[in-house]
Amino acid sequence: MGCASSVQEERTRNGTAGGIPEPDAPPPTDPRLPLTARQKFSLEKSWKAVQRSLEAVGMNALIRLFKRSPETQDWFPSFKGKTEEQLRDDDNFETHASAVMGVFDETVELLGDVDASIKLLTKTGKRHAKLGLEADLIWTFQKPLLEAIEELLDTRYSEKIEEIYKLWTTFAIEHMTKAMQAES
Ligand code: HEM
Repeated sequence: MGCASSVQEERTRNGTAGGIPEPDAPPPTDPRLPLTARQKFSLEKSWKAVQRSLEAVGMNALIRLFKRSPETQDWFPSFKGKTEEQLRDDDNFETHASAVMGVFDETVELLGDVDASIKLLTKTGKRHAKLGLEADLIWTFQKPLLEAIEELLDTRYSEKIEEIYKLWTTFAIEHMTKAMQAES
């Protein structure tokens, strides 16, 4: 009897009671990444929807940035002084939105390779430092980007996923700006 109950306990501990094995816990993420394995999985899943509208999200985020922090628009000789309508009609603006979002897209692809991700963010940060931009200016993009993602995901933008997007964009911009400060 005692023996049977200890077998039962053992089975329960192993998560195999009733014959249904528990799924393996996902392997832990790189400690430099501020996301748990579950959060990483949720981000990868959510990002698939963003990926399908990457250029539109990028353009919306940049328009939001230029409205919120007009001084940022002046940094782009070809965008300076243009209205939202003119920007949305401008192929260069579309291309730039894709380039910016391409960096974020690649960092999602590289969530499992944090070294490569940091390398890309460092390179992007250094390019901005060479243009004469200050790190503080780069941070101004975080909020507009999060708002553009929220606008797209709508009801799929839960509090849980919002927190994940905040953590991940902070990680990305932190590495970009760290490289800029090292450069200056
Ligand atoms: C935070 C995320 C950002 C990312 C990932 C990002 C990414 C990029 C990329 C990929 C390029 C194109 C580089 C190339 O030509 O190869 C670029 C150019 C540029 N970015 Fe950013 N950027 C960010 C934020 C900002 C912000 C907030 C400003 C504010 C002024 C800014 C100003 C510029 C300028 C002035 C250029 C050069 C554009 C040109 O060639 O005319 N960036 N950025």
